Amino acid sequence: MSDNKSILGKARAAYQPKLPVALRKGVLSVTMKKGAATESVRDQAAIKALFPNTYGVPAVSFEAACGCSCGAPEGKPLRVGVVLSGGQAPGGHNVIAGIFDGVKSIHKDSVVLGFLGGPSGLENGKFIEITLDIMNEYRNTGGFDIIQSGRTKLETEEQFQKCIKVVNAQKLDAVTIIGGDDSNTNAAVLGEYFQAQKVSCVVVGCPKTIDGDLKNEYIETSFGFDTAVKTYSELIGNIMRDANSAQKYWHFIKLMGRSASHIGLEAALQTHPNVCLISEEVKAKKQTLAQVVKQVADVVALRAAAGKKFGVALIPEGLLEFIPDVGVLISELSEALAHHEKEVEGLDTVAKVDKVCHWVSLESAAVLQSLPVGIQAQLMLDRDSHGNVQVSLIETEKLIIEMVKKDLKARPDFKGKFSALNHFFGYEGRCAAPSNFDADYCYGLGYAASILALNKMNGYMSSIRDLTKGIDNWKAGGIPITMMMNIERRHGADKPVIQKALVELDGAPFKYFAARRDEWAKTESYTYPGPIQYWGPSEVCDVTNFTIKLERGAM
Ligand code: FBP
Repeated sequence: MSDNKSILGKARAAYQPKLPVALRKGVLSVTMKKGAATESVRDQAAIKALFPNTYGVPAVSFEAACGCSCGAPEGKPLRVGVVLSGGQAPGGHNVIAGIFDGVKSIHKDSVVLGFLGGPSGLENGKFIEITLDIMNEYRNTGGFDIIQSGRTKLETEEQFQKCIKVVNAQKLDAVTIIGGDDSNTNAAVLGEYFQAQKVSCVVVGCPKTIDGDLKNEYIETSFGFDTAVKTYSELIGNIMRDANSAQKYWHFIKLMGRSASHIGLEAALQTHPNVCLISEEVKAKKQTLAQVVKQVADVVALRAAAGKKFGVALIPEGLLEFIPDVGVLISELSEALAHHEKEVEGLDTVAKVDKVCHWVSLESAAVLQSLPVGIQAQLMLDRDSHGNVQVSLIETEKLIIEMVKKDLKARPDFKGKFSALNHFFGYEGRCAAPSNFDADYCYGLGYAASILALNKMNGYMSSIRDLTKGIDNWKAGGIPITMMMNIERRHGADKPVIQKALVELDGAPFKYFAARRDEWAKTESYTYPGPIQYWGPSEVCDVTNFTIKLERGAM
């Protein structure tokens, strides 16, 4: 073991993640049960036409074999490639460990290749062989540094052909793409292409993202959400205690989560802030930026009237895109900047805004001009390879502070003091050492992926269900990715994509929050979750999160 492991790191390396019961005796002692034919969530005819080879296949579940050798696949060595795609999420290393141990349980000569730097490693044939020594260095650690990640989008025929050359040259039986909704969509497209081209390598997906927005009836949560949100909640709790001790600052904390507000909502459930904005609610109520600001300023004023000059507000990272007029501006900007890239190259923000205002609608031009120059510049930054605006770089928390200040200044009856500090918690949580939940869940997802690989289940996502029922009741299997798809308009074209799970306003987590937030606004009902615990009483160290418990009716 390397010398640069911390004391915790060394102790944690020895943790043996728990597997669902059916997988505990190794891959070869698992039987696979097929369910009925499946349909996509929407747009069935269109998705079927786009995925003629992989559409409609059954979901599968894994069960411990009956004891005889009936149906047990032959144990010959497997060659599996892995790709880490997109933003880091705690537990990625354990997914790879699950795949590694899974394929080695099939045959000691099985091989795992780790493609370097995300999907581009697969495209360009850049990889390392993951040996037992390498694997052991990374068990139960956060981060994706074992092979790094990347955001290259595999979408063109040329890229797919390059992938075929690589998987054929390496004689791969399967490639596992560990990623979020976009990356798993691409996994399904690649798998379909391989099958159409009679390539024997299958593509299997694994549900990753701290954002928590890759979930549905079959994928109960994406890995990394649990650890990331516990890490943020610890920090938020610490700030709350500081706020309540000094009683002089308002803390505005932006929390990661590109689109969905699951992270903000879960952090609110864990810590009880005075304000927590939920982007999905803002959108549903069609609130303008000024209305959102007023809502926050009202709480500041309410507390000030009670002599409280302090508080904590949580702001979801994706907020601006959900404010209807700003959202329209952002999508018009994306379109305009894509078409006029050269014309704005090298211009400063003021000159850029001048130009851009001619290419967007009058309403959007007015919204853009109303924003501070810093935010204008951030809204016009380059998009990522999936065409997303990089919301983590937009200082929404500072914008809200400035606007709340102005709003309060214009109130004749506001006599209080508003002194605000801003924070952004995002990258701090993405590589935290996985909680026991994520360590176990990820290991199980990886192990299940190796069973999907062995059984040539092309275009499937590894799945573990019943996550709130205790690990002895967890159920492993695989879900056809096409089943989660619908058609959405993306950058001017209709595309098959995995439906993103946003916060549901009629869902239990939001309702629980909504029923309590007025009380939390006035009071200091703060709770202090403290750091993630890896050892100790099970109710402390194996606890999951409020979101999944409320969604699954487990509290
Ligand atoms: P994924 O969807 O790829 O998991 O990434 C999520 C995320 O962490 C968002 O919360 C955040 O907006 C974004 O990645 C930041 O991206 P980058 O790592 O490229 O700065």
